[in-house]
Amino acid sequence: MPPALSLSSRSLRTADSPISYFIQKAIETPGLISLAAGLVDESAFPSAEIAQVVAEMMANPATAKAALQYGSTQGLPALRARVLDRVCTADGVKPSDINLTLGDVVLTTGSQQMLYLLGEVLIEPGDIVLAEAPSYFVYHDCLKSHGAKVIGVPMDDGGMCLKSLEKELIRLELAGELKKVKLIYTVDYFQNPTGLTLARDRRPKLVELAKRFSKHHRILILEDAAYRELRYDGDDITSIKRFDTTNEYVIYTTTFSKPCSPGLKTGYSLLPNDLVAPVCNLKGNHDFGSSNLAQHILNRLLETGAFDRHLVRLREVYRSKRDAMLTAIATEFASCPGVRWNVPAGGLYVWMTFPSGTPTGKGSPLVEAAVSEGVLYIPGNLGHVPNEQGKVPDHEIRLSFGVAEPSEIAEGVRRLRRAYAELETSKRGARESVLT
Ligand SMILES: Cc1ncc(COP(=O)(O)O)c(C=O)c1O
Repeated sequence: MPPALSLSSRSLRTADSPISYFIQKAIETPGLISLAAGLVDESAFPSAEIAQVVAEMMANPATAKAALQYGSTQGLPALRARVLDRVCTADGVKPSDINLTLGDVVLTTGSQQMLYLLGEVLIEPGDIVLAEAPSYFVYHDCLKSHGAKVIGVPMDDGGMCLKSLEKELIRLELAGELKKVKLIYTVDYFQNPTGLTLARDRRPKLVELAKRFSKHHRILILEDAAYRELRYDGDDITSIKRFDTTNEYVIYTTTFSKPCSPGLKTGYSLLPNDLVAPVCNLKGNHDFGSSNLAQHILNRLLETGAFDRHLVRLREVYRSKRDAMLTAIATEFASCPGVRWNVPAGGLYVWMTFPSGTPTGKGSPLVEAAVSEGVLYIPGNLGHVPNEQGKVPDHEIRLSFGVAEPSEIAEGVRRLRRAYAELETSKRGARESVLT
């Protein structure tokens, strides 16, 4: 045996993602319908558009050289200009109205890289991040690597409850811990995992709260708008960033993975100006620039209008998948007391709540019954951080309508209903045996 490795404390704080167990189950079980993974629809990829863009680019020596050479750490200026314009147009402002310039835009290897980099730039072990409860669990793991403590803020139909956030900030201040609060993290459009959206009137108030409690240093809001462009009902709502008119308090980050292709793995962010250099300096250590070819492809897709035409089609595809899932859930679970679900206006997820006392996590009777019926979901407890008593809600699940076809979605929900019926039968049996 060789001597043991001497791993860094960061490495020791980083465990395998709990989702690996579910991916393994999916691989091991033939015929399983996965409503678990947050992957995107494969039949709707813009492959013809990308093929055309790449062929055109490679046919011209000048554009081929530009795309195949290294790019810059901050990212392709032409694409940065387009995404800046895109976000500002969606928000009905000019960049200068909210003190933004091209220099505040950074392109990354997916928005995940920006989430990670922000941890490296801002977090010391023991620092605090306030996040919706539940929240995007992959980011929790990332924050854990950085040694951050995540504190969950309850949500209601309007997303993060600002009264609860304010109460928590006051509590932290009284406990002398406000100094440790670095970020308020929100997935504010069709949240992963609940599908909820932060209400319009809460957006400016959130910025005000961050300002009010920025007593020791700036507390930044991390607005993760990954699903903003996947809206199926109603009109877009203004970003939180729109209300940060001095460009000081809000980091806006989003991605081309969901509305286009995760294979291009390109994210973009609008940063407060004084955060750009620290982020790019560290990004330089990571990769001194994300895929230049992917950035050139995306730039051309935006320039030619192919991206927006694709988005119109993609929304249709997801709208019908979402409707297939909601119809199946309403049909199958209508008569189940205490079972509730959210109706998302966009995104990729439906969140279901079962009566308390119905554990849904790894090893629970429901997950086992679901796998033997042939369907997989993500347990809700993965999105929660333990409270003071070390407890997390464990009677919720996340279902994704991203990958499966509408007929598979409906079949997957029927299987879930059968799994739940097995549980109801065994609970009834247990009650009757207690009574007899
Ligand atoms: C809320 C949220 N943020 C960020 C990401 C990261 O996406 P990517 O790195 O592919 O841009 C995801 C991916 O699922 C997500 O759900």
